[in-house]
Amino acid sequence: MTTNTVFPADFLWGGAIAANQTEGAWHEGGRGTSNIDMLPIGDKRMPVKLGQVAQPELDETLYYPSHTGIDFYHRYKDDIALLAEMGLKVFRTSISWSRLYPNGDEETPNPEGIAYYRSLFETCREHGMEVLVTLAHFDVPMGLVTGYGSWRSREMITFFTRYAKTCFEEFGDLVKYWITFNEINIILHSPFSGAGLAFQPGENQKQVTYQAAHHVLVASALTVKMIHEMLPAAQVGCMIAGGSFYPYTSKPEDVWQSMLDDHDNTFFIDVQARGYYPSYMKSLLASKGVDAIEMADGDEEILKNTVDFVSFSYYASRTSAHNLDELTANEGNVVKSAKNPYLPTSKWGWVIDPLGLRITMNQLYDRYQKPLFLVENGLGAEDTVAADGSINDDYRIDYFREHIKAMADGIADGVPLMGYIAWGVIDLVAASTGQMTKRYGMVYVDKNNDGSGSLKRSKKKSFDWYKQVIASNGTVLS
Ligand code: BG6
Repeated sequence: MTTNTVFPADFLWGGAIAANQTEGAWHEGGRGTSNIDMLPIGDKRMPVKLGQVAQPELDETLYYPSHTGIDFYHRYKDDIALLAEMGLKVFRTSISWSRLYPNGDEETPNPEGIAYYRSLFETCREHGMEVLVTLAHFDVPMGLVTGYGSWRSREMITFFTRYAKTCFEEFGDLVKYWITFNEINIILHSPFSGAGLAFQPGENQKQVTYQAAHHVLVASALTVKMIHEMLPAAQVGCMIAGGSFYPYTSKPEDVWQSMLDDHDNTFFIDVQARGYYPSYMKSLLASKGVDAIEMADGDEEILKNTVDFVSFSYYASRTSAHNLDELTANEGNVVKSAKNPYLPTSKWGWVIDPLGLRITMNQLYDRYQKPLFLVENGLGAEDTVAADGSINDDYRIDYFREHIKAMADGIADGVPLMGYIAWGVIDLVAASTGQMTKRYGMVYVDKNNDGSGSLKRSKKKSFDWYKQVIASNGTVLS
């Protein structure tokens, strides 16, 4: 089966991972503890992840998947060589902030961390891949969480911009594309994993969160300004956890709710792409019981530093209802949603909605008129290794095929899309559940939820399939 060739010759087909879900080696090379290192697998994960544990502490009876990840820290050379066989044009990963600044507030960076990322990015370039770096992918040094309350403190802006400046100085010659914050809107839905926010008893959690979001936005804008000044040939984007909110019914109350839910996501990108808070912000905050955000002198001017492109992840659409509490919820995703009766779901309850990707692309471009970049898409599924060692993940190929077709339709609609990056291109730890068995990869990693396994890498059927998609620039999808 083929689609019309709508993909430009320089379309960036890629694969993505994140440091916190792959590297492991949590205390090697001078790395400090990060917020994600406090998330165990199992029942105790969610309260920590959502910020409901005021002072998270490690418990030696529990297993913490990020401490070992998939051992990418030690195996990156072989992993990159294997991924390069697919012909990836771009490799997306993040830098672990606590590998460069172990506590977060040091004046100077850790040289071992710098050496590690230089070597990683050089390896990518040797294999012909451009590098896309996310500066903060669910990653805050724990020293900043315990010492400053993370992003609730304005001081974070200083620490983050110092870290970002180090990245531009040290890696600017190797990295062409940058994203400031991964899925910036996730701070609202998963405050501790998204931004290191752990709430104290009795405080107005929403007030804290929206104020923290403002600090993140100011830090992001200052970072964008710095890139434009220091690395004029580079491009920088913002990133949203994408997926439109459909109204559950045509009842105006449901349509209005879907607009409110959309606004709660898009205000971040409105600021980052347009350079100012949207007009609906005051009423949005009021509807959440949040007083006006405290702005410092000069913030409005800083926010005028807008991004070059708008990137987004797309896994699923969402469904809004004014009476969500009375309806069946769609389980499995931190973003609250009603169950959409028209869509199938994955084993983890994420709806599968390729047309939703076309809708999201059109809506984002209508709104921002900036190039878009789809930097995460994929299906979390259980894989079985057959007796002969093969892994026949046709369900994943089907998911990718339908989404690539929808993306092609979106491009044909006139949306300028810079590239498509498959998420978790090598199996990694799931951000939501901490499981290894929720696999996204085209490369299988022999590791189980309890940490056991040989860590051996094997190609899945989707590996050769994606290779052919890239080689044909998206025209051969069979
Ligand atoms: C996005 C994140 O939210 O979704 C990734 O940027 C994450 O870090 C991905 O892994 C898929 O979610 P999960 O929970 O299935 O790993």
